[in-house]
Amino acid sequence: MAQVSDPVTGTGRRKLVLLGFMGSGKSHAASVLAKRLGVEPLDSDELIEQRLDKPIAEIFEDQGEGAFREHEEAVVIDLLDRDDARVVALGGGAVESPGVMRRLTDHVCVYLDVGTDLAWERAHRSARPLARDHDRFLALHAERVPLYESVARAVVPVDAELDESALDAAALLASDAVPATVRMVWAQVPGGGYPVYVGRGALEAAGVLWSTGERCFAVADEAVWGLYGEQLERALATGPGLQQVVTVPPGEETKSLGQAEQVLSALTRAGMERSDALLALGGGVAGDLAGFCAAVYQRGVPVVQVPTTLVAQVDSAYGGKTGVDLPEAKNYAGVFHQPAAVITDPRLLSSLPASELRAGFAEVVKTGLIAGDPLWGEVRSLGSVEQPLDAVIESCLRVKLAVVARDERDRGARASLNLGHTFAHALEAATGYAGYRHGEAVAIGLLVALRLSEHELGLDASVREAVAALLRGNGLPVAFEGPPTSDVLARMALDKKRSGGRVGFVLLRAPGDVVTHQEVDDAVVRAAIEEVRTG
Ligand SMILES: NC(=O)c1ccc[n+]([C@@H]2O[C@H](COP(=O)([O-])OP(=O)(O)OC[C@H]3O[C@@H](n4cnc5c(N)ncnc54)[C@H](O)[C@@H]3O)[C@@H](O)[C@H]2O)c1
Repeated sequence: MAQVSDPVTGTGRRKLVLLGFMGSGKSHAASVLAKRLGVEPLDSDELIEQRLDKPIAEIFEDQGEGAFREHEEAVVIDLLDRDDARVVALGGGAVESPGVMRRLTDHVCVYLDVGTDLAWERAHRSARPLARDHDRFLALHAERVPLYESVARAVVPVDAELDESALDAAALLASDAVPATVRMVWAQVPGGGYPVYVGRGALEAAGVLWSTGERCFAVADEAVWGLYGEQLERALATGPGLQQVVTVPPGEETKSLGQAEQVLSALTRAGMERSDALLALGGGVAGDLAGFCAAVYQRGVPVVQVPTTLVAQVDSAYGGKTGVDLPEAKNYAGVFHQPAAVITDPRLLSSLPASELRAGFAEVVKTGLIAGDPLWGEVRSLGSVEQPLDAVIESCLRVKLAVVARDERDRGARASLNLGHTFAHALEAATGYAGYRHGEAVAIGLLVALRLSEHELGLDASVREAVAALLRGNGLPVAFEGPPTSDVLARMALDKKRSGGRVGFVLLRAPGDVVTHQEVDDAVVRAAIEEVRTG
């Protein structure tokens, strides 16, 4: 990991504070992190026990929870003021004190996000006073999660084993060079995860947040490089530096085997080696192409995604699907290659043409439909893509990360992310990838999928009405002209998601209740397409 003058911050002001519910493993994480940084971990529960000279369970029994919380607040506030405290683990309930919460905003809080089953198993076994009644335990978890989330700078999902690289990635946030607006969400995938740094100013901090590959090479969308190339080079100068950039023309035609060959040859001529890393700067096109090149270059080098469109920031930069199109069908040649890191800076969207922003909004609506509430509610109340999108971008990318964590290789749950895409891909292919932006095709595809969901699964028609209003309100198409339905159906048959010769659709029973691989009769599909075509 990057070295900073002070083991943690350079100034010693910001501490790394481990937060989370009972059983999330805060003390263990603090000791791992402190060891890696060469400092002593401090633990508020241990300090309370030392101060009162008795175990916490006894304090609860003798004095009650209220008195315990008062001791806890005093100890934690002292601890956060101590100059020698660099890595601190707090008791799970410390966040209930408004005084503690106010002070936590000065530090880098790392929230260990444990599921309730694992938390109960661990906490119940160790006879914690608040882990005796299961219902109360669940209610407490639900109450505290929003508190942890509200102060967290890093969110690390906890499975049976903690991924220690996640702690290294979180520790980088303590550098003074990283603005407090940048958060880290750890993406879990089998065999090791990766950090997603998200927030305004993340691009400028790219060099400090860099933790992979000896040297950095880049593949960049030509137009985006013109806008942000200098900024990126400056940022990387404080990290690995930038050896060479290969720019590629904007547009879907760039996602081709021919272009991939040109990029691979350019990287070879530039002397890129297996110990180096490739950075992808641009939207989904540059990201998919660069990811593909990284996956196959010398049988695989790490790729760091720096997404610059809304589509890429909410969707394509995460999850490791990389590839190019064939003349016959979209995304037909590709591999899974998870990023080594993603750096998502919503500020980059300020230069995005309105039409591209709108196209990305279709993916936001899709994610809201898949996730259901609260995200679906957030998307509906957001209304317009003109609003600040930072919060919704983070929520959407977390939905994607959670789905991919369950099904990296697209064998089950991940198919849900294709809501609206069976039709969208067919429409794009049938119009030679020139008729509709991907997001526009997704907008129409969502309406087709929702119409089919009404027919097949009884989805309430008000959902399609709400979606159509959102799309229309953001200048997205809710009807289409162009290729005959038989052409679109033929393209669908080629779609790689087909099963047993019939197209498998992703449909909804309700927002948040997704059914994948649903077979639908051709006549029903044809009727839904015709209905959506005319609006
Ligand atoms: N891998 C995945 O999981 C996944 C998921 C969804 C979509 N995709 C793919 O993503 C592609 C679409 O990506 P996209 O919608 O990002 O389009 P894109 O990459 O083509 O970018 C759209 C346009 O915006 C410009 N641009 C990009 N960032 C800019 C910025 N910050 N300021 C100004 N202009 C900017 C580009 O030059 C381009 O002209 C499709 O090929 C689709 O298949 C992949």
